[in-house]
Amino acid sequence: MTPPDWERRLYLAAHPFAYPLLRAAARRGPIVRVPGVGVVVNDASLARGILMDGETFRKDGPGSPGELWTPVLGPSVLLNMEGDAHRALRRRLTELFVPSYTEALCARVLDEPLDRLAGRLSGGGVDLVDAARVMAGAVIGEVIGLDARTDASYRDLFEQGERVVSSVSLRTRRLSPPQVRKARAVLDPLGDIAAKAYAAGDESTVMGRMRALGLSEDEARGAAGAFFLTGTETVATLLPRLFALLIDHGQLARVAAEPSLLDRAVEEAMRVATPTPVMLRSVHRPAAVGGVAVRPGERVLIATHNCCRALGPFDLDRPHPPELRRLWFGAGPHFCIGYPLAMAEIRRVARTLLAAAPLVVTRRAAARGVLIPTYRELVVRKGAA
Ligand code: HEM
Repeated sequence: MTPPDWERRLYLAAHPFAYPLLRAAARRGPIVRVPGVGVVVNDASLARGILMDGETFRKDGPGSPGELWTPVLGPSVLLNMEGDAHRALRRRLTELFVPSYTEALCARVLDEPLDRLAGRLSGGGVDLVDAARVMAGAVIGEVIGLDARTDASYRDLFEQGERVVSSVSLRTRRLSPPQVRKARAVLDPLGDIAAKAYAAGDESTVMGRMRALGLSEDEARGAAGAFFLTGTETVATLLPRLFALLIDHGQLARVAAEPSLLDRAVEEAMRVATPTPVMLRSVHRPAAVGGVAVRPGERVLIATHNCCRALGPFDLDRPHPPELRRLWFGAGPHFCIGYPLAMAEIRRVARTLLAAAPLVVTRRAAARGVLIPTYRELVVRKGAA
């Protein structure tokens, strides 16, 4: 029996009008021009080609997606940069999130909250949405150098990020002055915390490492803001969706028994969920993509979700073809710099939950009015279905 498609419900609850249009665009072909939206790409090979060509398809300059965040994060925060300056900053940051460091970081901050989570799992029902927010808040708090180490402070940090991200919709091209003020009211104090950790220069901290890697204080502050915005909700929303998919498809016990399957399960859940459902570029010089001519100034919307869903529903046994490989983390010069951190975090939390298997979902509801589709609550408890 095919399980109910909760992923589709989550998307519809988050984007009741845009989601059907996005999926309809996929049925029109690999690349289609949609008035008011731009050139929509639904095919993984074409998407990858565009992402790899950072000269033609860019994230900086007038009308580009980078413009959205420049007024709040500053001009040099990777996601709004291109060319030599982008390459130079990325080169300095490559050392930052090497797997050995991200694993140690996650162990340092997650082991305590995970112990508490394991205890609650044996006691009764646990809302994985709330648990994932606490974990994501804990990790990002450590990245920017927050001192407080309680579930309440992690939850609060998560909610601050949510307030900024919720001011953006799929249609937002620019933040209004009040939106910029609201975002800065959240990000400036966090930037101050990050700057303090930078000044302290302790190389066991992320901000201290940025200083040792030669970043200026402004660059480090901007990077902290960018990590906070891009690396909190993405991870927190994926975790409950991963577990719902495993439980709904009857695969939880299998992954719990075979730890080597965990990475495959995480990547397959990412493929189906695509926490970043679209990626934007602006065309900087004339080009042809899949037989469609694109002109300078046009907007390209890579429908990552469509590219990924073309392979079909969640299936742990279906390999990912090369063009799809980790497309949910991007490709080329802007490939997610937080990938090792996201994976370390997800693996660590997942192992605690898998150790409590079998788990059943006792209550769930989809979140409405959010940018990244997710559950409003997903309560699980120990036990078989
Ligand atoms: C499930 C988790 C995550 C997903 C699905 C994800 C997805 C992505 C995607 C698709 C991009 C490329 C966007 C584009 O090319 O337009 C990206 C870039 C980026 N991500 Fe992630 N991300 C995740 C977690 C994180 C984490 C934990 C951090 C940092 C703490 C992070 C920091 C960044 C940054 C700074 C960029 C911009 C890189 C650049 O422009 O050079 N992400 N991410």
